[in-house]
Amino acid sequence: MRKIAIALLLAALAAPVLAAAPADMDARIGALLSQMTVEEKLGQLQQLDGEANGEARAEHFDLARKGLLGSTLNVRGAKRTNELQRAALQSRLAIPILFAFDVIHGYRTIFPVPLGEAASFDPAQAETDAALAARETRASGVRWTFAPMVDIARDPRWGRIVEGSGEDAYLGSAMARARVRGFQGADYSAGDRVAACAKHWAAYGAAEAGRDYSTAEVPERTLYETYFPPFRAAVEQGVATFMSAFDSLNGVPCTANTWLMRGVLKGDWGFPGLVVSDYTSVHELMAHGVAADGADAARLALNAGVDMEMVSRDYVTNGAALLAQGKISQAELDEAVRRVLRVKFLAGLFDKPYAEEAAEDAIVSMNGDSRQAAYDAAVKSFVLLKNENNALPIPPGVKNLLLVGALADDQAALMGSWTGDGKAEDCITVLQEFRAKSAERGIRLTYLYAAGPEASEKDDILAAVKAAKRADYVVAVLGEGPNMSGEAASRSDLSLPGRQLELLKALAATGKPVALALMSGRPVDLNWPAANIPAIMQAWFPGTMGGPALADALFGTVQPAGKLPLSWPRSVGQIPLYYNHLSTGRPADPGNKYSSKYLDAPNTPLYPFGHGLTYMPFELNDLRVSASSIAPSGTVSVSASLSNKGSVRADEVVQLYLQDTVASVARPVRELKGFERVTLEPGQSRRVEFKLGPSELGFYGADLKYRVEPGEFRVWVSTSSEGGLQGSFNVAH
Ligand code: GLC
Repeated sequence: MRKIAIALLLAALAAPVLAAAPADMDARIGALLSQMTVEEKLGQLQQLDGEANGEARAEHFDLARKGLLGSTLNVRGAKRTNELQRAALQSRLAIPILFAFDVIHGYRTIFPVPLGEAASFDPAQAETDAALAARETRASGVRWTFAPMVDIARDPRWGRIVEGSGEDAYLGSAMARARVRGFQGADYSAGDRVAACAKHWAAYGAAEAGRDYSTAEVPERTLYETYFPPFRAAVEQGVATFMSAFDSLNGVPCTANTWLMRGVLKGDWGFPGLVVSDYTSVHELMAHGVAADGADAARLALNAGVDMEMVSRDYVTNGAALLAQGKISQAELDEAVRRVLRVKFLAGLFDKPYAEEAAEDAIVSMNGDSRQAAYDAAVKSFVLLKNENNALPIPPGVKNLLLVGALADDQAALMGSWTGDGKAEDCITVLQEFRAKSAERGIRLTYLYAAGPEASEKDDILAAVKAAKRADYVVAVLGEGPNMSGEAASRSDLSLPGRQLELLKALAATGKPVALALMSGRPVDLNWPAANIPAIMQAWFPGTMGGPALADALFGTVQPAGKLPLSWPRSVGQIPLYYNHLSTGRPADPGNKYSSKYLDAPNTPLYPFGHGLTYMPFELNDLRVSASSIAPSGTVSVSASLSNKGSVRADEVVQLYLQDTVASVARPVRELKGFERVTLEPGQSRRVEFKLGPSELGFYGADLKYRVEPGEFRVWVSTSSEGGLQGSFNVAH
């Protein structure tokens, strides 16, 4: 009986949040379907790409006037979208075009890259950022963003790790929900919202060897436990659309994967929205070796449940013949069109097909509140990895400050990859802000390019060493170039690129205090800096306001409190490396040769998931577990008291981990099941409480059924995935 209770509870939790549908929507869709020709239906399933600068192509107008263009990507700008929309509304049935664009971490105002935003452990901030991005996006005539990217990634060689929320399903799910809420609000027909897109369905981040577009082989149970939850969270939050992934999953390309699309997503989860393929991923079914030609590719993808084809044209080219041959059914074709029309209705396109051209500039203009939000988000994204003897913040007594590194003076780099319509000239660099702050403080600032992500004739390590010898303090802004992560940017070697490590070693050799501010889209090899540089701040790619935010964090004007959303490996040899691993039958034991470990390196990461220091000392104590034993359907409260022992207001991220010690399948040694970013005044204490129930205590068994099993659960309240206050409770039989 109890299991039924749990199942009913979980089913209730799972019901997707539906946007407010126009009352007559289904009737209007039915009426349109009954009038549409096969060619018009196939046209609705076609998305074509515009120019990179946002211009539509001449062909788009021809197709639009015939009612044969369902959607575009990249076409943007209120005037441009209106012009193409007018052509579409001249067509026989006047079905509006759905304009899409990759607004991954900002449209014109660029927020930290998603991995950095996840490091804030602040979903409310992520929601704010997405809402501001939606406002600018909608003002530009775009009604659909291909975000959030919710792929879990355990392999930092994979360049797209920068676009997601890291390695953990719980954090990834919280960020997925927040971003969908931000983009869509409660009703994405509203004048400042857009349809969102959970991508890439599925397990794209499990790319073999970290190579983008590579094969993913993931056991189903691991899919349900690790890779699916952020997608499920997006569905429960009412995400309008999904995107099929490029990869093959267990031998079946996702874009032809009926189990993924019609089985799990549209069947089990009841997803009512549309699935768009990734860029030519329908046509790529031939390269995968599962389709003999374009017609076969179209048949496979349509039958699998991919509703719209992005850029390649196998649906419109072959759909009529496939229908005539009975290789796709009228019902499947109509269902795909119905889903596309539903999203267009829910986006308000039939009632409000146009953008307000007069309003665009005022909204997409980097005005006060979006810059402020970008600054706040950047500050929250920074992770203080190391701070020996409080080397940071820059001591107030510093009179001669040396700033080195190409990235300190690189506006475009601040935006990272997927920069939307962001403009480098909008970005304020670290150097610009250091100049302002040094002037205020009477500091003599010297800046040298010295070295950057690309070795160049501008490299001049000797000059940097000479300048360091005259300085009291050195800040090195080093890292990856913005295009060394993101799509098609996997790296087999995680070293600091160019001659940057050589520069760092030379600076350290001067004996002057050196702080490293790192900009990167992934963990890079920090073994030498971790052993030799007193302070290291991870800044990811912090966006339009990254310069002022990072300068304020380095000078101590603001308090860093970010945490790692992934495990930071010591070397590529450890990958895949993630904190919520299984124990194995022979857990690593330094005293036992015959245990699971390397001869030449520790198993542990250089910096663990959830790690991040603060300038202010915080204390956690007084762990309380509300019950020693609960029923499988019961809940338990776990809490601890957090105190700010420092001298200024600061944040700390309190994390709740648990371990199901004995279960029918091996369970991770720790799993994040709660977190809260807490702001405390100096001297203030606050109890932080987490509720644990079936949603947190359960897992998918070998039979893929979700359950809570009896036994002992260990819990930790901590500020990292290591250590913390430990307690336990039992789930009774
Ligand atoms: C790209 C990416 C996808 C993006 C799409 C449209 O190849 O895989 O994330 O949304 O094409 O730009």
